[in-house]
Amino acid sequence: MLAVAGLVASGVTGATASAAPVDEACPWVGSTAPVEHRVDQVLSRLTQAEKLGLVHGSGGLLDVLNPTTYAGIVKAFPRLCIPQLSLSDGTAGVGGGKTGVTQLPAPNSLAAAWDRGLAAEYGDVVSAEMRGKGANVALGPTLDLARDPRAGRSYETLGEDPELTGALAVPQIRAIQGNGLIAQAKHLAAYNQEALRDTPLGNAVVDERTLQEIYLPAFEDAVRDGDVDSVMCGYNFVNGVHACNNTYLLSQVLKGQFGFDGFVTSDWFAMHASVAAANAGLDMQMPGSCYFGTRLKAGLDAGQVRASRLDDMVRRILRPMFARGIFENPVTGTPDAVVTSPAHAAVARGVAEQGTVLLKNEQNVLPLPASGSVAVIGNAAGAGVLGSGGGSAHVLAPSIVTPYQGIAARAGGQVSFDDGGDRARAASVAKAAGTAVVFVAKWSSESKDNGDIALSDADNKLIEAVSAANPNTVVVLNTGGPVTMPWLNQVRGVFAAWYPGQEYGNAIASLLYGDTNPSAKLPITFPTGLDQVPAKDFARFPGGQYSEGLAVGYRWYDQQKLNPLFPFGFGLSYTDFSVAGLTAGPVAADGTVSVGVDVTNTGTRAGAEVAQLYLSHPASDGEPPRLLKGFEKVQLNPGETKRVRFTLDARAFSHWDSTLHQWIRSAGDYTVSVGDSSRHLPLTSSVRVPTTIATSVPTPPAPQGAPTGGDSVSGILANLVSCPDEALFTGLTGLTSLLGLPPGPQATIPPANP
Ligand code: NOJ
Repeated sequence: MLAVAGLVASGVTGATASAAPVDEACPWVGSTAPVEHRVDQVLSRLTQAEKLGLVHGSGGLLDVLNPTTYAGIVKAFPRLCIPQLSLSDGTAGVGGGKTGVTQLPAPNSLAAAWDRGLAAEYGDVVSAEMRGKGANVALGPTLDLARDPRAGRSYETLGEDPELTGALAVPQIRAIQGNGLIAQAKHLAAYNQEALRDTPLGNAVVDERTLQEIYLPAFEDAVRDGDVDSVMCGYNFVNGVHACNNTYLLSQVLKGQFGFDGFVTSDWFAMHASVAAANAGLDMQMPGSCYFGTRLKAGLDAGQVRASRLDDMVRRILRPMFARGIFENPVTGTPDAVVTSPAHAAVARGVAEQGTVLLKNEQNVLPLPASGSVAVIGNAAGAGVLGSGGGSAHVLAPSIVTPYQGIAARAGGQVSFDDGGDRARAASVAKAAGTAVVFVAKWSSESKDNGDIALSDADNKLIEAVSAANPNTVVVLNTGGPVTMPWLNQVRGVFAAWYPGQEYGNAIASLLYGDTNPSAKLPITFPTGLDQVPAKDFARFPGGQYSEGLAVGYRWYDQQKLNPLFPFGFGLSYTDFSVAGLTAGPVAADGTVSVGVDVTNTGTRAGAEVAQLYLSHPASDGEPPRLLKGFEKVQLNPGETKRVRFTLDARAFSHWDSTLHQWIRSAGDYTVSVGDSSRHLPLTSSVRVPTTIATSVPTPPAPQGAPTGGDSVSGILANLVSCPDEALFTGLTGLTSLLGLPPGPQATIPPANP
């Protein structure tokens, strides 16, 4: 959608097959024939039973968390040299309770870095470690948006904006697939809450335009720009039809409109139909077999599912297996292998440094003076540290460098510590130091949404007590997303560190002392309170009515003229930047618009700035006031200026027309705004678009025989009788959304308080 000059290429374009000798029994292995030909060769020799064996997993509930195996396995077929598919979480490193892996910062920390090159490095680490563990399908990245800050999996998203999400997902996908793995983008679509997931009450009621403009574009980027091999459908229902048997999402949009030729996997125990799921476009059941084993066979035998559909499912699975070299270059690692390395830890540290957002720095309380004394306050600086959020994206660290350890190792002056358990004592420790840094944390997890966005009372009171004792107080937030800050006016500094992974302590010390100049920007709005958020009423969250429509994230705050606590795109630095010389347009013959802007470091330290480009449509398009359409991070020495160039294509100026079911670029006057946050856009320029054109094909109609809902009543009853364990697990998924999971262990070597 948007090409930016100087875009960092991930440097990976697909695995090359090693020149394996052609096996006479399996001539498709090591063959240089086109993928499609090799797929045909295999397909023509598969029996129906073998085909059915390729479209489902072979595991049960407990395998998901069993560190000696994988979240999902599709068994090998040695007769035809078809290797096993081993599917592994997660989105922030290898999950599933495996040890010997690197705990990377959470995806929303990566998003806060606004850096495509770093996203490629992140994907490289994830896929190298998965490979080392013997997995060949990486279950990520997550492309769901952080619609509401209470969502349990907000930390696992790339923020609240579709453009930022797509831009950072693509280099990750390319990196994963470049390492010879299959990436699985998830969860299609509008899966934005945990409450009552996998039940008909977890139903997103969302209009077509909102789906197309907000919740689907990152998947389109993943398909068109990332060439993603597989997609996971979500736990939620969408407009009354479960996402995993949703013809509109799977067949009309993903496969039809976007041209996706890979396979769709069900989220774990997310199947509510067998015949209808196959006919709607689902290609693989996970982690078990019943719906797409016994029940699908019954559907085929009864003529309810065509044999050609089963062939299509198998074809879609074999295609990426050939494209990624999985036949020729099989993974050889094992679940117990140690795959972390100093190089991977360095990436974890780099992401934490680049992704930690400086939100406040009054009276230059930061960077800390090299030899001043520091009081480190709070259990979250020691044993209570959270390197990773919970659920399938949870990753075990070999050990976590705690903030106290990192600061103690870096500081030139005296460092004291108090765990904050006794506020009066903590205040007196803080008072005796030059600066007090208070560390607080809030747990967030898959399976349960948070009831609020407040820190605990104890943490808020601790911050108040410390800041009353020492005016030079800095707060570091170790949370899955936005929290309220009732004490904001009493403290001089605030960092949002998210769940920063195993190198947290080193990264935060580097930022506090100015060895790293902060450059991160918020990928999600921080509201003043829940009364400001787009889905504030129960009907919207967790009720599932997406009646805020297009006004998600900053679009809402702009539309409603609300002043959030900290806006989307905001983040401070220890130097200053200015932007000047904006040029935009005119519209070229190919429909593109060139935009240029000079970014200057006007301060005294080297640092990076993110130039952000927002577009305003003519009022008649009915868009929220401003939409992010481009960003570029530039590294600048003091006094240095660089010209940043963006190319907006015709699609960037388009809106979704729900009558025509396609993207339309309207004629009219658009405004291009550039600055360093969604609320600080000092430069604007007008672009006149002369003609109205369609910029996409319309969404194709449903394929013949595709369902509009789930299985028939008799089919559902037969499913229940044949697959009682699947139904039980499905029910359990909904139940855990009410109960939640406890905080997982953060490291195999637990961090201790000093
Ligand atoms: C459920 C989660 O929603 C999904 O993201 C994950 O990949 C699977 N479980 C497998 O663990």
